[in-house]
Amino acid sequence: MRNLRLQLRFLVPLVVILAAAAYLALPLMDRLTLRWFARDLNLRGSLVTNALSESIADALPDPRGRKLQALFNRATQDERLVAIGLCSAEGKLLRASAGFPKALTCAGAQQIATLPEPLMRIEGGPVHVGVHPVNADSGTIGQLVLLQDLSFIERRSQDTRQYLVILIASIGVLIALVTMIVAQLSWRGWISGTRALLRGEGLIRPLSGSAPELEPLAADLRARLRELEDEYRRSQGPEAEWNPQRLQALLRTQLSGDQVIVVSNREPYIHELQHGEVVVRRPASGLVTAVEPVMRACSGTWIAHGSGSADRDVVDRNDRVALPPGEHEYLLRRLWLTPEEEQGYYFGFANEGMWPLCHVAHVRPVFRESDWQYYRAVNQRFADAVVAEAREDDPVVLVQDYHFALVPAMVREKLPRATIITFWHIPWPNPESFGICPWRREILQGMLGSTILGFHTRFHCKNFIETVDRYLEARIEHEHSTIQFQGASTLVESYPISIEWPTPAETARWRPVPDCRRRVLDRLHLPADQRLAVGVDRFDYTKGILERFHAVERMLEKYPEWLGRFTLVQVAAPSRSALEEYRSFRDRITLVTDRINQRFGTGGTLPILLLAEHHEHEAVNELYRAADVCLVTSLHDGMNLVCKEFVAARDDERGVLILSRFAGAARELPEALIVNPYHVEDTADALHRALTMPEAEQRERMAALRTTVREFNVYRWAGRMLADAGRWRLRERIAERVQRHAGE
Ligand code: F6P
Repeated sequence: MRNLRLQLRFLVPLVVILAAAAYLALPLMDRLTLRWFARDLNLRGSLVTNALSESIADALPDPRGRKLQALFNRATQDERLVAIGLCSAEGKLLRASAGFPKALTCAGAQQIATLPEPLMRIEGGPVHVGVHPVNADSGTIGQLVLLQDLSFIERRSQDTRQYLVILIASIGVLIALVTMIVAQLSWRGWISGTRALLRGEGLIRPLSGSAPELEPLAADLRARLRELEDEYRRSQGPEAEWNPQRLQALLRTQLSGDQVIVVSNREPYIHELQHGEVVVRRPASGLVTAVEPVMRACSGTWIAHGSGSADRDVVDRNDRVALPPGEHEYLLRRLWLTPEEEQGYYFGFANEGMWPLCHVAHVRPVFRESDWQYYRAVNQRFADAVVAEAREDDPVVLVQDYHFALVPAMVREKLPRATIITFWHIPWPNPESFGICPWRREILQGMLGSTILGFHTRFHCKNFIETVDRYLEARIEHEHSTIQFQGASTLVESYPISIEWPTPAETARWRPVPDCRRRVLDRLHLPADQRLAVGVDRFDYTKGILERFHAVERMLEKYPEWLGRFTLVQVAAPSRSALEEYRSFRDRITLVTDRINQRFGTGGTLPILLLAEHHEHEAVNELYRAADVCLVTSLHDGMNLVCKEFVAARDDERGVLILSRFAGAARELPEALIVNPYHVEDTADALHRALTMPEAEQRERMAALRTTVREFNVYRWAGRMLADAGRWRLRERIAERVQRHAGE
């Protein structure tokens, strides 16, 4: 309907213009046809005169004029010839046929005949007036006045007018039809294009296939949409923002007085003995980055493996230590593992089996019976520790990651009223891939001890539900995303993990970006105008470090202008070095680095600087702020928090993020340059594009990324899970009460 109205807006003026054109054109056409006919009639008049000349010359001498009269009467029998008159050379009317107007004199006829439209109206209608010399052998003997009928011309003119009107009307209808069809098609195109933009597709992938002439308009539309989105988010203000206070308020209201216990393998702080002194270190772990701020807000108990060389020296007699150092906001309960336990459970089953199984990154999972036994035993030890730490029978237990797939069911067995939230920090594969695991059923059963099971993305949730469907007898309610198994229900939900957004107090301590740049370049002995890319990862084959280096190599081949002017600083924290797969991966990376540096190193500057050691958060932050580009090229990643840390560090709204489409974060951060890391050419081009990106575009992209990461922060991640848990507990309590009353 709206579409029709729009078309009418175009069609009505078109019809009006055509009608006006017809109105103006018709008299013009009339005059034109009249003149053509006048010319024809003049010609005809001359012919008639010539034909009559001789007879007139013969009849003229008759004094009574009978011959001439008879001649004229005969001639006017022609229906077109209305009347004839003969004028003498002196201009006197000598003889005229019947019907010749009495008032018409020879001079009058002469005058009319010289007009461009020589016509006059007589009783029978309009007539053409023509005056033609009558030539005889003796010379001109007079002038013949011929009055020829013009009414047939009027009839023809009417016909012509009709045809013209029909022609103009047909042209109008044709134009209208074409207009309507074209408008309909382009309207649909516009609607679907705009819808795509509104869905955000235009932002993730540029509107490929769209008409190039529409691109500027689409870019404007995209920009406006982004502004509107930002405006909307800002307008929501602190109400919508998740922060420690809001999380605490949620704990007070929805989980009032409930104890929160976290279980993870990695501990948030590691105490190490260095040169005879105890130093505290933060591990390179996305899990720790995310869970620690939440723990500070909850003031709960965190149970983790005490893996530091000085960990035992700082705990109390219950193996607890208050953290963070000096602030004492929560308790860490350390669990000690024997080397055999650590080997079998952590290195073996978790990292040689589950890790490659879930990442599907072309490294074969290894499953050993002995590792599985250790995995079960250690899971039981952690579950027992949870029970020991629980002050009530219904604590909120947050189980972290693939190290503890069996813990939820084990805790549930001892504390049936506990609310168990398990978060799986890595991807979940499809049912076929998961089917490789010999203990797939036990793992799934263990996980279904959870009240809530969280993954980063809906895609991973879907994979998990399909896996349960394939290997267990369970009832799945797709509509509510719940699984009923052995009388208990588990909600499977996506909660994209994130980081803590830096506070103003923290950012106030940061050095300005130019200082960071200068310090980093000085430290790395690079020239002041060197362009920097940064990569920060654990030394892990899933991170796509090799593919990233190949992309750098390809970029230098393809765009030699960067030779000597570009360096990738790759921070690679040592990880799981006890495993052969990790050691050989590290060796391979070192070899490739040397090869590329030998090939492209010029004048002392190397294209790749591999910093294979642990870096503290402050040092990494300085690198982020110094860099032009941050490269995250994971081959498969649950979420990846490095990209979010880079975005948080860039309060100057500069720098470009290149992000693998296989990292969960790619779904949240479409304003990054999204790449397929397996496609070396694609990544090399993205790197070149990042290095040449205009500042305005950097700012626009970075501002949008920052808005997203600030809002979708780690407190929101935890808050959404805990709010779901709160609702669940309320429902359970009401159900218990109803049951009690029913039994009374
Ligand atoms: O996402 C998996 C994870 O647990 C992350 O939290 C972290 O990045 C990494 O694995 C830590 O590995 P590890 O504890 O084995 O060093």
